[in-house]
Amino acid sequence: MAITRDPRPVADEIEIAPMTPGDVPLVLAIERRSFPTPWSERAFVSELRENLYADYIVARYGGRLVGYAGMWCILDEAHVTTIAVDPDFRGMGIGNRLLTALEERALRHGCRRMTLEVRASNHVAQRLYRRHGFRPCGLRPGYYTDNGEDAIVMWRDRLDPPGPVAASHEDGSGSGGDDGGAAGGSGGA
Ligand SMILES: CC(C)(COP(=O)(O)OP(=O)(O)OC[C@H]1O[C@@H](n2cnc3c(N)ncnc32)[C@H](O)[C@@H]1OP(=O)(O)O)[C@@H](O)C(=O)NCCC(=O)NCCS
Repeated sequence: MAITRDPRPVADEIEIAPMTPGDVPLVLAIERRSFPTPWSERAFVSELRENLYADYIVARYGGRLVGYAGMWCILDEAHVTTIAVDPDFRGMGIGNRLLTALEERALRHGCRRMTLEVRASNHVAQRLYRRHGFRPCGLRPGYYTDNGEDAIVMWRDRLDPPGPVAASHEDGSGSGGDDGGAAGGSGGA
């Protein structure tokens, strides 16, 4: 049950921490409620233990694991691989905090730009990404195998400063060029 939908009082109470293998069972419970083709336990554990480019985080609210996100940092580009919030805790600013934390960490890893793929029908996620300065730069037709849906490839050209961008940037007028091109390799957020 969601405690509140007003994100402001909640934002300060959200704790962000690196994901550990011990978090995976709770992550999987959210994963299965969030995606039609959820990742397996092995996929998450492999990302945590074997992928040197991967960085995964969790969000806790009141001590409860309520969301997670991950990315690959390759050279100066960060590829968001996943982001999800417990359905009972959506609309409270947790997705925003997770994405901001990814952006902060990507900058520390030396990344300057960030990309992701999103279902064409996922307007909630697209709205979150646009608030963070991501702009659609390409389409992958039939990318999602469960229903043949297209993926929209989005890029944020400048990660610094991390977090939501000012309104003039959000509409695409203030960000960098259109050189996003194709996203390389990530599984799609
Ligand atoms: C996408 C997702 C991570 C957003 O998490 P969240 O915690 O609900 O998001 P927030 O509360 O931080 O909201 C951030 C922004 O998302 C958008 N948003 C959130 N809930 C929304 C809703 N119900 N309707 C429309 N926009 C919404 C808004 O732009 C919001 O900013 P605003 O409050 O300033 O308008 C969450 O909906 C989710 O887990 N969805 C299922 C998994 C998924 O689709 N992941 C993305 C794959 S690409």
